[in-house]
Amino acid sequence: MAEFQLPPNSRVKPGKTFKAPQGAKNVRRFSIYRYDPDSGENPRLDTYEVDMDSCGPMVLDVLIKIKNEIDPTLTFRRSCREGICGSCAMNIAGGNTLACTQASADLKGEVKIYPLPHMPVVKDLVPDLTNFYAQYASIKPWLQTRTPAPPDQERLQSKEDQEKINTPSACILCACCSTSCPSYWWNSDRYLGPAALLAAYRWLVDSRDEATGERLDELEDPFRIYRCHTIMNCTNACPKDLNPAKAIAETKKMLAARSH
Ligand code: SF4
Ligand code: SF4
Ligand code: FES
Repeated sequence: MAEFQLPPNSRVKPGKTFKAPQGAKNVRRFSIYRYDPDSGENPRLDTYEVDMDSCGPMVLDVLIKIKNEIDPTLTFRRSCREGICGSCAMNIAGGNTLACTQASADLKGEVKIYPLPHMPVVKDLVPDLTNFYAQYASIKPWLQTRTPAPPDQERLQSKEDQEKINTPSACILCACCSTSCPSYWWNSDRYLGPAALLAAYRWLVDSRDEATGERLDELEDPFRIYRCHTIMNCTNACPKDLNPAKAIAETKKMLAARSH
C-alpha cells in the first residue's frame, strides 16, 4: 500500500514550553506553529501557558500578550482587531477563522494554532498570499464599461440591483474560504478558488458592468471554475457569513445558460 509522509524537513517537531507565571489561577495552553525558513530548522509546535485573568477575550489578544510578554519572536499578521482587514486569518482549533473575532472562551481545552492550510509559510503564522492576490487581480475586480457615462450624473443603479452586489461586496479577502477548499489545495495554480470566484460573481451581477460576456469567457475553462465540486467548506469557513459556494453555483448556471 502506498504510504504518504511529509518530507523530513517539513515534519513538525515538538518545541519549547513557556510555563505560566507563578500564582496564575486561570491558565490555558496554546500550542502554536513556529517556522523560520532562515534557521534551516524544521517547524515546531511551541506551547505557551497564558494567564487568562490578565488577557483580553479573543485569540488575537492571546497572541499579542504572548508577543509582548512571553516571546517577542512570535510572528503573525494583524491590523484592525475588528474583523474588517482580514489579516489575522489563521487555523485555530482546526478551523480557519479570524483570530480577532474568535473568543478563546468558545474553544475547548488546549488550543492549537497553525497558519492557513496549504499555503507556503513566510514565518510562523504568516502565509504567502502572493498567488491568492494574483488570482483576485486576474478576475479584474473593477467596473468595466463600454458605453460613455451619463454627462451629469453617476451610473445609477436601482435598490434591487444594488442589493445583488451588497453581500458579495462584503468579502474582506481573508482567504479562510480558499484555504479550506480541498480543490484549491490540490489545484491552486489553475483553480481560482472560492474567494476569487465570489469576487468574479460580484462583478457578473453588477447591473452597471458591461463586460459580462468577457468575464464569463475568462471562467469557461476546465480548471478556473469547474474544479469546484460543491463541497461547501468555503461557506462554512467564511467568518463574514458569506456564501461563495452559492455564488459559484450561480456562475455555473450563467455559463450553462449561454451555451444553450
Ligand atoms: S464549494 Fe467549491 S469552492 Fe467551496 S469548498 Fe467546495 S469545492 Fe471549494
Ligand atoms: S468569502 Fe469570506 S472567507 Fe472568503 S475571503 Fe471573503 S470574507 Fe474571507
Ligand atoms: S485584525 Fe483585521 S480582521 Fe483580524
